[in-house]
Amino acid sequence: MRLLVLGGTHFLGRHVATAALAGGHEVAAFTRGVSGAPPEGVRSLRGDRDDPAALPAALDGWAPELVVDTSCQSRAAARNAAAVLGNVRGYAFVSSLNAYANWPPGPIGPEDREPTWTTDDDEYGPVKACAERELGAALGNRFLTARAGLIVGPHDRVHRLGWWLQRIARGGPVVVPDALDQPIAAVDARDLAGWLVGMAERGVPGAVNATGPAGMATLGGLLELCREVTGGDAEWVPVPEADLVAAGVEPWLHLPLWLPAGIARTAWDVDTTRARELGLPSRPLRESVADTWAWLRTVEELPPPPHGLPRPGLPAELEAALLAAR
Ligand SMILES: NC(=O)c1ccc[n+]([C@@H]2O[C@H](COP(=O)([O-])OP(=O)(O)OC[C@H]3O[C@@H](n4cnc5c(N)ncnc54)[C@H](OP(=O)(O)O)[C@@H]3O)[C@@H](O)[C@H]2O)c1
Repeated sequence: MRLLVLGGTHFLGRHVATAALAGGHEVAAFTRGVSGAPPEGVRSLRGDRDDPAALPAALDGWAPELVVDTSCQSRAAARNAAAVLGNVRGYAFVSSLNAYANWPPGPIGPEDREPTWTTDDDEYGPVKACAERELGAALGNRFLTARAGLIVGPHDRVHRLGWWLQRIARGGPVVVPDALDQPIAAVDARDLAGWLVGMAERGVPGAVNATGPAGMATLGGLLELCREVTGGDAEWVPVPEADLVAAGVEPWLHLPLWLPAGIARTAWDVDTTRARELGLPSRPLRESVADTWAWLRTVEELPPPPHGLPRPGLPAELEAALLAAR
C-alpha cells in the first residue's frame, strides 16, 4: 500500500520508513529537508507541515492509504494533517505519556481511565493531547495514538542513553545518582516502528500506552549494561539526591534518565496491558544498549537534538565539583 511517514529521516521515523519498506509498502516521507534524507527506496516529499498548503502541494496527487505520524509538534501540524489525510485507511500517531495531565509522576492506568490535557498552552503534553483530539475527530475508528514513554535505540539524537554510553566508555569515576534501584521502562525505536506500521495496516483504533513493561529494568541495571557493552573501567560514584540538587544537577537533563525519588516511584508504573495484547514487542534492553553503542561509534558528528531540546549530560565543571566533594 502507499504509506506516508510524517517524519522519516531519523530515529523513530527512520525506523518506521525502513519497516514499511520491508513490509512491501510504497513509502514516502514528508519532511522539511532540514535534517537529511530518508532511507534509500523512500520517496522524499518536502514541506513544512505547519504550513497548510505544504502537504497537499508535496503529495501532488499521490494518495496515501496509510499514515504513520512521528513528527507532530504543534497544533497547526495536527490540524493540517487532519484536513488532508482524513480519508486514509489507517493512521498511527506518535504521542507521548506527557499527553496525560497526571504524568509525570503517574502512575498511569488503562488508557481510557486517565485524563489527558485540555489546556490551550503550547507545552509539549497539551499539544500532543490536542493533536490526538484533532486527528481523532477527523479519522474516527481509523486513528490510533501511541503514547510513548522513553524511546531508545540507534539513530537517537536526543542522546540520553547515548550520553551515558559515551561517558561510561571514557571510564574512571562516574557520578551516578545513589538511587540506582529506581525503576525505568523503555521501548526500542525499532520495536515501536514495526508495530506502528502493523497498527496502521490493520487500522487498529484507540489509545495505547506504548512503552516497555513496568518493572522491566532499573536505572542501575541500565547503567551496568552500558558498562558491559562499552567494556570500560568506569567506577560508580553514587551521590544522594539532596547533594545533586544542591549542586544544581537537573534531573533527566544533567544526569539523563534519572528522576527525583518522588517522581521515579510511579513514573514508570504504566499499564501497558493493551500494548502487550496488541503485540508491541519489547526486545532485551541489552540489545538496545549494544546496538545504540554500535551505532554511536559510527557517528562522526552527532546532530543537535530535535525541537530545540538541550543536549543532555553532566557539564564538566559540575562533574568535577561533585567528584571533588566525595
Ligand atoms: N525520544 C523519546 O524518548 C520520545 C518519547 C515520547 C514521545 N516521543 C515522540 O516520538 C517522536 C519521535 O519521532 P522521531 O524520532 O522520528 O522524530 P523527531 O526526532 O521528532 O524528528 C522529526 C522528523 O520530522 C521532520 N520534521 C520536523 N519538523 C517538521 C515540520 N515542521 N514539517 C515537516 N517535517 C518536520 C524532521 O525532518 P526535517 O527536520 O528535515 O523537517 C524529522 O524527520 C516525536 O513525535 C516525539 O514527540 C519521543
